[in-house]
Amino acid sequence: MGPKALSQVLRQVSFVNNDKNLLVGIGTDDDAAVYKLDDNKALIQTVDFFTPVVDDPYIYGQIAAANSLSDVYAMGGKPILAMNIVGFPECLDQELLVQIIQGGVDKTLEAGASLVGGHTVKDDEPKYGLAVTGLVHPDQIITNSTAKPNDKLILTKPLGTGIMIAAIKGGLEKGNTENPAVRSMMELNDKAIEVFNKFKINSCTDITGFGLIGHLTEIMKASNIQISIDTKMVPIFNKVIEYAEMGLYPKGGDSNRKNYQDLVNTKDNVDQVIEDILYDPQTSGGLLLSVSEDVSKEVLNMLHSLGIEDAAIIGEVNKGKKEIILS
Ligand code: CO
Ligand code: CO
Ligand code: CO
Repeated sequence: MGPKALSQVLRQVSFVNNDKNLLVGIGTDDDAAVYKLDDNKALIQTVDFFTPVVDDPYIYGQIAAANSLSDVYAMGGKPILAMNIVGFPECLDQELLVQIIQGGVDKTLEAGASLVGGHTVKDDEPKYGLAVTGLVHPDQIITNSTAKPNDKLILTKPLGTGIMIAAIKGGLEKGNTENPAVRSMMELNDKAIEVFNKFKINSCTDITGFGLIGHLTEIMKASNIQISIDTKMVPIFNKVIEYAEMGLYPKGGDSNRKNYQDLVNTKDNVDQVIEDILYDPQTSGGLLLSVSEDVSKEVLNMLHSLGIEDAAIIGEVNKGKKEIILS
C-alpha cells in the first residue's frame, strides 16, 4: 500500500481525545502530542522510524535519531527521554545493529536527553527510530494552527534529501559526512529553537516525509491561511536539481504530489524540476518558522549567527483562499 492508501485507512479511525489536559492531539496534524502536567509543564510525545537511508550504520542511527528528536523541537520543546524502536534481520551481522543504536545513543546525548531502552523485533529489513518524550512550558507550545497573515516563512535547512538518498543508493553520491546533505540530516534542530527564546514564533513544523508542500499544507489548513512561496528563495542542496533533471526521484515525492497538488497553484515561471523538489520527501529536514514580518529579518540574522547558514525567508502568509501559490 502506498502512503496515500495508508493515510486514508487512518482517517477511518475515530480517535477520541476527551482529556482536557491534552493540549495538542490529532486534529491539527501537528508534529507531536502535548499533554499538560501542571501550569508550568507539558509533556511532548512523538515517534518516528524508517529503513536505512545510508549504508553506514552509525550515520544511519544518528540520522534516524535526529529525525525523531526533531518533532519535539518543532513543538517548541526540549527532549528529555528517548526509547529505541528497532527491526533487524537475523541474517545480518549483529555488529551493524550495535553501530545503529550507538548512533542513536550519541545523538540523543547530544540533544541533552537520555536513551533508556526500547524494543527490538526480527524484521526482513532494518528499521530504526525513537519514541521521544519532551517538555515544554504550556505557554510556549508552538503549533501548526497559529500562523498569521503577513507572517514571513523561514526554512532552516536546504531541500533535496530524498533525491540525494536516491543518488546515494544509486552509487552517484557518497553516504558519508563529506556529503553536505548527509551532514545536514545528522544535524539536530536544537540550535534553531534558540530563536524561540528571543522572538515570538507564531507557528513551526519540521519538514519531513510529506515534503515542503505537504507540511505547508498542514499549517495552511490548521491556521486557515494562504501561503505564497518564492521558489527562487528556497535553499536546495548542491546537485539535487541536476539529479532531479536526470529523473532521479523517490516514489514518496510522487505520492506527495498526488496528495497535495489540488491545493497548489503553480505559476508558469516555476520550473517543473523545482516543483518536484518542493514535493521531495525529506529525512531529518529543517524547521519551517512562521514569524511576523517586522522581526523576520532579525530572526533570520540570529539563525545565521547560530551557524544555520542556509536559513532563508522563502515566502509569506496571506489572508484568502486556502492554497499554496508557487511563483
Ligand atoms: Co514533524
Ligand atoms: Co515526525
Ligand atoms: Co509544530
